Amino acid sequence: MRHRVDGLFQQTAHSPSFFELSRRMGDHGGQLVDFCIPCNPYFPTPDMFDMLARNLEAVLKFYPSDADTIAGQLARVLGINPATIAMSNGSTELITWMDHLWVRESIAIPIPTFGRWTDQPMETGKRVDMFPLQEENGFALDIDAYLRFIHARGSRVAVLCNPNNPDGGYLPRREILRFMDELSHLDLVVIDESFIDFVEVERNPSVGAEAAIRPNVVVLKSLGKNFGLHGIRFGYLVANPGLAGKMRRTLPKWNLNSLAETVVFMLAEHGEAYRESLRLLARDRYTMGMELALLPELTVYASQANFLLVKLAPGLNGTELRDHLISRHRVFIRECGNKLGMSNQFLRLVVRPEQDVARLVEGIREYTHPQWHQQQQQEASIRSLPVRNIS
Ligand SMILES: Cc1ncc(COP(=O)(O)O)c(C=O)c1O
Repeated sequence: MRHRVDGLFQQTAHSPSFFELSRRMGDHGGQLVDFCIPCNPYFPTPDMFDMLARNLEAVLKFYPSDADTIAGQLARVLGINPATIAMSNGSTELITWMDHLWVRESIAIPIPTFGRWTDQPMETGKRVDMFPLQEENGFALDIDAYLRFIHARGSRVAVLCNPNNPDGGYLPRREILRFMDELSHLDLVVIDESFIDFVEVERNPSVGAEAAIRPNVVVLKSLGKNFGLHGIRFGYLVANPGLAGKMRRTLPKWNLNSLAETVVFMLAEHGEAYRESLRLLARDRYTMGMELALLPELTVYASQANFLLVKLAPGLNGTELRDHLISRHRVFIRECGNKLGMSNQFLRLVVRPEQDVARLVEGIREYTHPQWHQQQQQEASIRSLPVRNIS
């Protein structure tokens, strides 16, 4: 099996898609457990999926409404002024357009982070000022040090992901407000809140409402991440009406698809199910963190997102572990060797329900202690043998 996935992982700064991997693995694809792509395993609910399935033919056959109609409904559900949002085909589309519209010469970003924040501006010839987060501080972002860095480099745009990907590090709202206050002279400040709904240490962590009344702040949100629906590709930004309007006029009129429209119009009735999914996810994050921390070969970093960053003990190799897990256990993980500011000793593991974590832990144990694991399996199979009456 291993040769069939070889080569798939080294092509870009991102992991191969679930579909690509499933195709490569032939019939086994259906059994893959995905610890790679950060999702919400509890939302949409099975009822919502049934409803989508029942409407699939109409959803696929007809044109969606234009983006303003869909964004207007999203604004109503979220209680936001529609003039302050722009909706896109995944928040990556907004990162691309923000770069084209508002990043003129330079952009500062802490690393490691989501690859498009460094790659997109580099691809269009901008200077990217990368601020390295320190492993010895658990990759926590020191706002004052980052501000000093931005001033020293003279960066004209600054980005901050809260929580950050891949470590899940979170900064309290008051710190983000202070950051925005200090940078009111920049061309743009972007607070990427793609994972903020998963935060539980603070009740209202978003600074979206503040962005809407400031001249140079954009808050970015990924609905794909929040709702566990990456395939749909939908996200939005919140900014003052001038900036949000400029973005809306730049994006194509029909940039959102009918699946996105259908889900947005379902949301009003499923708010409680969504909030419950977040509670379950926070519970799973805690138990998964405890399970992983029991493995002496792993260091687990504190996270407020729907994934956990872990570091392997010296001598262990994340690339080998990834290949081992996928070929022997059908478990797909994100090894971070191709992320700027990381090495292949780091893994990003998506928060998943208990039974999936058990499969992951078993795979890691088999890799780190093959003999011990073999012995455990032999003992378990002996215990499960039927007891025969030989008298
Ligand atoms: C911090 C961050 N922002 C934005 C995105 C893009 O999300 P999407 O385009 O799926 O909405 C990602 C994806 O991983 C991310 O990690």
